[in-house]
Amino acid sequence: MSYGDTTILHGIDLDIHRGEIFALLGPNGAGKTTTVEILEGFRQCSAGEVRVLGADPARGDDAWRGRIGLVLQYWRDHRRWQVAELLTHFATYYPNPRDPAELLALVGLTKQAGRQVEHLSGGQRRRLDVALAIVGRPELLFLDEPTTGFDPEARRDFHDLIERLARDEGVTILLTTHDLVEAERLADRIAMLVNGRIGVQGTPTELSRRAAAQAEVRWTAADGTARTERTADPSRLVWELHQHTGGPIADLEVRRPTLEDTYLHMVHREAKRGADGAEAGAGAPEGEERAA
Ligand SMILES: Nc1ncnc2c1ncn2[C@@H]1O[C@H](COP(=O)(O)OP(=O)(O)OP(=O)(O)O)[C@@H](O)[C@H]1O
Ligand SMILES: [Mg+2]
Repeated sequence: MSYGDTTILHGIDLDIHRGEIFALLGPNGAGKTTTVEILEGFRQCSAGEVRVLGADPARGDDAWRGRIGLVLQYWRDHRRWQVAELLTHFATYYPNPRDPAELLALVGLTKQAGRQVEHLSGGQRRRLDVALAIVGRPELLFLDEPTTGFDPEARRDFHDLIERLARDEGVTILLTTHDLVEAERLADRIAMLVNGRIGVQGTPTELSRRAAAQAEVRWTAADGTARTERTADPSRLVWELHQHTGGPIADLEVRRPTLEDTYLHMVHREAKRGADGAEAGAGAPEGEERAA
């Protein structure tokens, strides 16, 4: 995908399977929204091949569009509509819509049903976006940073809703997020996009293990000093510590490498590669991440 001389996406290669929750992660400007908008048919890519539900999104007809639900990163229409009216109106576009009142209850907006969209809070507005996206019972759901502005409870409710849609209704979900805990919890597979390239792809567990094979064990020693040790076998270390102290280990904490470790490692590596590439006058080479 290019705009004039500027290439935004460099040969993205992605397969997302039916019923899967797939998360696209990456820093601001990485190309997540661009990718999602190409898949939704909102932007036409400058080269390559895209198939979504068997069709080229740039040529998707109304029937194709009716099988898809969207939460866009930004949109500013419908400000003066009332919440329930807008949802009821959207429901008329689809052959087998969800019940608007039930849907409002599901996203926690029953009390705001009569309120104008422009008078909703940021998080309430986002909940409405989610309701509008699923009112038509889509087979495929695109969610571009759906939980921006959600309070912790709304976030947890949203996660439950997404899991239910995927597990019970078989909805395929493509999600972008900056919340790595959210990605780890929801996604079956994750791709990390940096500077328009996919750096790594895999299950959350696979990706978490990539940054470091060793776990970090922290505890407070008998003399009161805080101790940290890295080990590939944390259970053995804890067992040894327990033998040694002959009792409980104070402030014991075992931390496995997280998705965040892999993410930060990859972003730093790509930034360095970009800087080196600029110095050498060469583009960043493609390649799979290797375990550090
Ligand atoms: N219409 C456009 N013309 C030129 N460049 C564009 C256009 N739209 C987006 N870009 C550029 O494409 C790059 C990728 O943008 P995109 O919105 O896809 O990033 P993103 O990964 O969604 O970021 P964020 O996390 O901030 O939402 C950015 O550098 C952006 O400035
Ligand atoms: Mg974006």
